[in-house]
Amino acid sequence: MTADKILVVDDDRSIRWLLVDVLKEWGYLPIEAQSCQAALFVCESEAPVAVLLDIDLPDGSGLKALREIKNRQPEIVVIMITGNQLFENAVESLRGGAFDFISKPINLQELQVTLRNGLEARRLRKRIRALGHQQTRQFNFAQLVGSSPVMQRMVQLARKVAESEATAVLLQGESGTGKELVARAIHCGSQRAEGPFVPINCAAIPATLLENELFGHEKGAYTDAKGRKEGLFEQAEGGTLFLDEIGELEISLQAKLLRVLEEECFRRVGGLRDLPYDARIIAASNRDLKLETEAGRFRADLFYRLSVIQIELPPLRERGDDVLVLAEHFIAHFNRHLKKKITGLTPEVTELFRRYHWPGNVRELRNLIERVMILEDEQVITVNWLPREWATLGRRPDWQLAGSGGPSQLATSAVIQDEDVTRLFPLPPGGISLEAVERSLLRQAVSSTRGNQTKAAELLHITRDQLRYRLKKIEEKTELHGTADAQEVAPT
Ligand SMILES: Nc1ncnc2c1ncn2[C@@H]1O[C@H](COP(=O)(O)OP(=O)(O)OP(=O)(O)O)[C@@H](O)[C@H]1O
Ligand SMILES: [Mg+2]
Repeated sequence: MTADKILVVDDDRSIRWLLVDVLKEWGYLPIEAQSCQAALFVCESEAPVAVLLDIDLPDGSGLKALREIKNRQPEIVVIMITGNQLFENAVESLRGGAFDFISKPINLQELQVTLRNGLEARRLRKRIRALGHQQTRQFNFAQLVGSSPVMQRMVQLARKVAESEATAVLLQGESGTGKELVARAIHCGSQRAEGPFVPINCAAIPATLLENELFGHEKGAYTDAKGRKEGLFEQAEGGTLFLDEIGELEISLQAKLLRVLEEECFRRVGGLRDLPYDARIIAASNRDLKLETEAGRFRADLFYRLSVIQIELPPLRERGDDVLVLAEHFIAHFNRHLKKKITGLTPEVTELFRRYHWPGNVRELRNLIERVMILEDEQVITVNWLPREWATLGRRPDWQLAGSGGPSQLATSAVIQDEDVTRLFPLPPGGISLEAVERSLLRQAVSSTRGNQTKAAELLHITRDQLRYRLKKIEEKTELHGTADAQEVAPT
């Protein structure tokens, strides 16, 4: 953690020297100013956490400066230093938002305690604000449901990372695999748990605004920038900044972010100075950033910086029976919320859940269970309310699912796996024309449905538009080359 920056404002050089020396000794980072104006300027540019402010300054009263500072940066702890014991000054100071006041000659011990208390109060205020940001429910690793080996390995790695000092972490995984959940768990499992968790979706905000959001801006950075604005890097102080969908970050901002990560400080828009920050950065993407890098859409240097600590979230279809454990978990959840008493899945549904490829991962499962539970009148989840598409998947006579009594609409349908295709259509030793195979399948589909394109498309698991497009292409090719029909399907 970086040392707290403390601004000393006094026109008396000997007092400044004294205070600067003791502040260093106490482990702070002191900076100085000798007038009201300088104090205001330095507060804006350096963002100290506390100010020791003399009341008698050459260009005005410290009380006025106090009000200005508190007005613009209410978070700063101000301790007034008064040259006399005037009661009014003390009252005015506290009214103006000072944390406390100390009179000259300065009792250093008293100052040390007062300063420490002031900073502690500031930390508490920040923490309370952070708790307000967070949902009341704690996010921790116990909330990650699943016990498959891939998940166990992932959680083990994430726990280690949480406890480590790593300042940047990259989470990669398909949509709905739980990246945000893991990011929050890492935050809650870290030393920074009491600090804020600040999420931002890089895809949701236009690049120009995003820079402003991330780094804040100085007064006057834009024509309408009335005051200084704290950026998310500052708001996340002592906590975690979650950069969601980092793959969508514009190239110019990628360069800025890289610099910020490497130098551990950032610059406000319109600012002249670099400011240190103290936040862990967790970035997430559902794109494969390595591929994005190769395609030139993501900076390689930023990718390498982020991927030092990289956590892969496995897709649901690779988590074995976790899908069933998760289903049970969501059924219990929605039983509570929907006031239902569903006990589980029929064997048929269990099998379909195991086989389905879940492109939307855990989110898709959760949404499906919610929808089905709203509709289901039985005590168990049956095939009745599963999506219609599932019923048209892989209609094949030999597709009897284990454990299902008698054929049902869904018993003959599910996802055709690669190995099934291999069994049905083994590649002839001499090879085969892919185009001819496609033409033959299209023909078969169209003729067996007596030209009903909607039904033909359904048989081939494509949309009607896709079917028409493919038919048209084949037609064009045939016209061009005069190639004939199904005979060509035979190995050449
Ligand atoms: N292992 C899990 N256990 C319990 N709930 C989970 C798990 N993984 C994901 N979820 C739930 O699934 C939903 C999607 O998770 P999350 O939003 O974290 O996904 P994501 O990877 O960030 O997706 P996207 O890339 O689309 O933003 C959430 O409701 C989350 O609570
Ligand atoms: Mg997400």
